[in-house]
Amino acid sequence: MSAKIISGTKIAKQIRAELVKELIELKEKHNIVPGLATVLVGANPASLVYVGAKERISKELGIYSERYDLPEETVEEELLTLIDKLNSDPKINGILIQLPLPKQINGTKILNAINPEKDVDGFHPVNLGKLMIGEADYLPCTPYGIQQLLIRSGVKIEGAEVAIVGRSNIVGKPMANILLQKAEGANATVTVCHTGTRDISSHTRRADILIVAAGKPKAITADMVKSGAAVIDVGVNRIGKTPEGKSMLVGDVDFEAVKEKAGAITPVPGGVGPMTIIMLMTNTVKAAKLSSKLTPTKRI
Ligand code: GUN
Repeated sequence: MSAKIISGTKIAKQIRAELVKELIELKEKHNIVPGLATVLVGANPASLVYVGAKERISKELGIYSERYDLPEETVEEELLTLIDKLNSDPKINGILIQLPLPKQINGTKILNAINPEKDVDGFHPVNLGKLMIGEADYLPCTPYGIQQLLIRSGVKIEGAEVAIVGRSNIVGKPMANILLQKAEGANATVTVCHTGTRDISSHTRRADILIVAAGKPKAITADMVKSGAAVIDVGVNRIGKTPEGKSMLVGDVDFEAVKEKAGAITPVPGGVGPMTIIMLMTNTVKAAKLSSKLTPTKRI
């Protein structure tokens, strides 16, 4: 039997509708309009698409948006000056610095400079530390979106065996920390596999939930998946162009084969991608509420 397809497009729409209501209430009751600044350094084609989508969706939702496009050769000092300005601008509740940054800029130094209260990406060490001890204000958007996908599509997380393939700071590591908390929508047993793992299949085959952020097409084949597992594919690999000149995207999972074995699976595109963006909007609304001492909406 073919797996249930977990549609990130559909679930992101549900969350979007919730945010629209929340934003109307914020404006009408409190006269608050959350503000998001997006910063892109250089012109990485994938980053241009992501930042464009983040700016467009924030505008559609009625979030105040400022976009900064800086040249590839920008030096660290210039970016730090911009971050300082945004840190002290009361119209701006969230600051997003699109990654990766050009090599002359020290990414850690930049992320450390963002006021943790405006760190809607959840990448500041303060926010990552809070996540680790179960006190997070902002969860990194991709793993946060994956948790929402699982919860809202009825996948049982509590007590599940979870295997994560990939240990990046923006997906694998925060994902593990989210799902292992003793909390609702978590409390799972988590294994993180990476390039140093001796036998990845021995872990993935035991997983009730398999989350893949490996950065390689077909990194996960059907023989690596437990029957009935929920498979979340974070991969975005561009493999050539369609006849119309659009990029063809595939994930890290051999979708056609794995969907015959899994119980549920996310497609690429239309799986994790739309969730990342809507969780950024969720974090921005939360940042605006926290800065005005209002109680944020609980989503887990
Ligand atoms: N690059 C890839 N994913 C992300 C993300 O979630 N946030 C930012 N800022 N950059 C990214």
